[in-house]
Amino acid sequence: MGALEEIKARVNIVDLIGRYVVLKPAGKNYKARCPFHPDDTPSLMVSPEKGLWHCFGCGAGGDALSFLMRIERLSFQEALAKLAGELGIELRGGEGRARLLQVNQEALRYFQKALQGPEGEKARSYLVSRGIGEALWARWGLGYAPPAWDGLLRTLSRFGVQTLLELGLAVPGDRGPYDRFRDRVMFAIRDEQGRVVAFAGRAFEGEPKYLNTPNTPLFTKGTLLYGLDLAKEAIRRRGQAVVVEGYTDVISLHAAGIEEAVASMGTSLTADQARLLSRYTDEVVIAYDRDAAGESSALRGMLILRQAGLRVRVASLPPEEDPDSFVRKEGGEAMRAVLAQAQPFHQFFLSALASRYDLGTTEGKEAALREAQALWPEVTSPALRLELLTGLSSLLGLPPEEVQEALRGVSRPVSPAERKKEGAEPVLTPEDLVVRFLLEGKVPEPVVSELLAEEGRFSPAYREVVRRWAEARAAGEKPAPAHLLSGVSPEAAAQVARALLVDLKVADENRALEEALVRFLYLPRITRRMEEVRLALKEAEARADGEAVRRLSLEFQRLCRERLELLRKR
Ligand code: UTP
Ligand code: MN
Repeated sequence: MGALEEIKARVNIVDLIGRYVVLKPAGKNYKARCPFHPDDTPSLMVSPEKGLWHCFGCGAGGDALSFLMRIERLSFQEALAKLAGELGIELRGGEGRARLLQVNQEALRYFQKALQGPEGEKARSYLVSRGIGEALWARWGLGYAPPAWDGLLRTLSRFGVQTLLELGLAVPGDRGPYDRFRDRVMFAIRDEQGRVVAFAGRAFEGEPKYLNTPNTPLFTKGTLLYGLDLAKEAIRRRGQAVVVEGYTDVISLHAAGIEEAVASMGTSLTADQARLLSRYTDEVVIAYDRDAAGESSALRGMLILRQAGLRVRVASLPPEEDPDSFVRKEGGEAMRAVLAQAQPFHQFFLSALASRYDLGTTEGKEAALREAQALWPEVTSPALRLELLTGLSSLLGLPPEEVQEALRGVSRPVSPAERKKEGAEPVLTPEDLVVRFLLEGKVPEPVVSELLAEEGRFSPAYREVVRRWAEARAAGEKPAPAHLLSGVSPEAAAQVARALLVDLKVADENRALEEALVRFLYLPRITRRMEEVRLALKEAEARADGEAVRRLSLEFQRLCRERLELLRKR
């Protein structure tokens, strides 16, 4: 067992939280006044069984580590070290660490050899077809994990199975350990010093697209930036870093001469990553694909960068492009131009609002305000607050005082007493329910695949956790909820803890699941398809294409019927 698992297994969440607040038993759980907001009724709940906590008043929540991080204002590593010290668990340092690094290095050599060998043919042509030619393979530590279940286990057997399990290279199975990475193109993940601390494996097809090393003694998610070892010189020289989402984005940008690019690796940026960047520069340009950049978790990430004292600008790529596809189509010069035109964060946020909502209407203005409200508590810099306030005021045509009033209004947490007055019970949305049932292992297999294939449907906070759950599942593990939460963003942890701890007042779980699936997955899917068909129909009519009009009308009618059917079932 690695140190992290051991800490998680041994820490007693009730004892830990009990050091800071007075816990009172309440059924299987405990309750206390929440230390994170003014709380006169006990609205913090702790579940020893699930290893999670959640406040029904202010919405904070997560596992034992996240409580400690929050109340003591520690980073993940610091909280981990504190707990390890108390429990007498040795965090790996010195000699042990050097040996683990050596094993990873050997694993990389194995993947590299496989890429060059006869089995690597498919991976070689895949990389080349993506514009990643042979000249780049050594520099980026690219390789191939062959399909066998024990290729790496056998080759590295001299290091001992225990070590391979500890490094996440092997997975314990019912019939013995097996290789985590099989039939995947491998990317070495290195720390700033260029030491291989983890791997990511991309599937040729199927889910999950990328399989990543879990948290190990060498690697904690959210604490490093992909490519920083090769980018740090350029970041210093240029005085800026370019932050992208993906591994391939980084590789293609570097190949095109934009060597100051690093990746956050799919999740939103963490405070640890911001601190890391701030050691090299004070200016960051975010280049996510357009949808991703506007998402609230990405916006939060940008605020975290600002809080670390960095200037943040956001580049706008054409729709449907990510940095990888754009730079390969248009070249480095074009990409430089896009970076040069990046907007300051507050302008980006405002123009994202303007493009998403019709601000000529009252509804549009209200929706834009709601979105700004959600972000407002995290905007702590007075200068940025002022910029956003004046910007919003002129965008919405409202006096600044009123905008400020509106922004403040909802950011104040609603106390449970007030909630009771309003008669509002904490309710789970269909998405909350789907995630809850999914993590509890109550979703039937075929539906799991459907959900994973449409992972984009989940809101960003959940996507992160669902992805980890899928990875663990693909590796044959059955992860406890608290184990999925270490290193995920605080919002994600809080949201998941809430979904799992809220009292489910349903008589029939199967029916509740079915209903949630209809509302979360099936209805939106049909609605979207109807919209597509409606547009296609309009075009077909314009072309006077009788055959297509007939076919599309039939499909439209069929979709209407299906939709009615679904609505009736509820
Ligand atoms: P994307 O889905 O945008 O992938 O995820 P990509 O980088 O464009 O990958 P290609 O080009 O299809 O190969 C962005 C990043 O999110 C993380 C990875 O770090 C990825 O580079 N990710 C994505 C995962 O960790 N797991 C996944 O299943 C998907
Ligand atoms: Mn891509």
